[in-house]
Amino acid sequence: MKRLAILASGSGSNAEKIMEHFQNSEIAEIALVASNKADAFVLERAKKFDVPTFTFSRKEMDAGVLLQKLQQENIDWVILAGFLLKIPVELTRAFPDRMVNIHPALLPKYGGKGMYGSFVHEAVKAAGEAETGITIHLVNENYDEGRIVFQASTPLTSDDTPDSIAEKVHALEHKHFPEVIEGLL
Ligand code: GAR
Repeated sequence: MKRLAILASGSGSNAEKIMEHFQNSEIAEIALVASNKADAFVLERAKKFDVPTFTFSRKEMDAGVLLQKLQQENIDWVILAGFLLKIPVELTRAFPDRMVNIHPALLPKYGGKGMYGSFVHEAVKAAGEAETGITIHLVNENYDEGRIVFQASTPLTSDDTPDSIAEKVHALEHKHFPEVIEGLL
């Protein structure tokens, strides 16, 4: 049985889909939900699934507190589901090819510093793109540049707004992320 930790900074709708997916799994369990925001809604969602939670500050993460916790909990895989801080190098090195991120666009487009959440959808809208999508990739030391394991796209029209783009992207994420994770394990 693989032990998974989910790192999330916000609402956690992806985290919820992943917890649902692995609820009765014989392959993996969600052993921890960790957040850098003490009031993140993802922590409430974790309680609903009886998954233990852990919160930490950026400073603590940079000082190795999160890595220590993940090691104490014997975590095999780290899932970034809307985690918005840059991961320290020691953390990526501790989980080589065992850390996976979801990005709300078709990388290499709309990736890199400052490109997260609604900023991505606003940039996609401003560029008048005819499609957007999701990218699931392994995490290396350069944030959005790890090996891509899955992409899916969705068409856009000129009527789409950043909010409707976000909705389309979330639908793709919820549909694919849990299964792609299972495939990777
Ligand atoms: C998701 O759309 C995810 O792709 C994005 O944050 C959202 C979190 O939603 N992640 C990034 O932008 C990372 N660069 P959720 O909290 O409802 O799962």
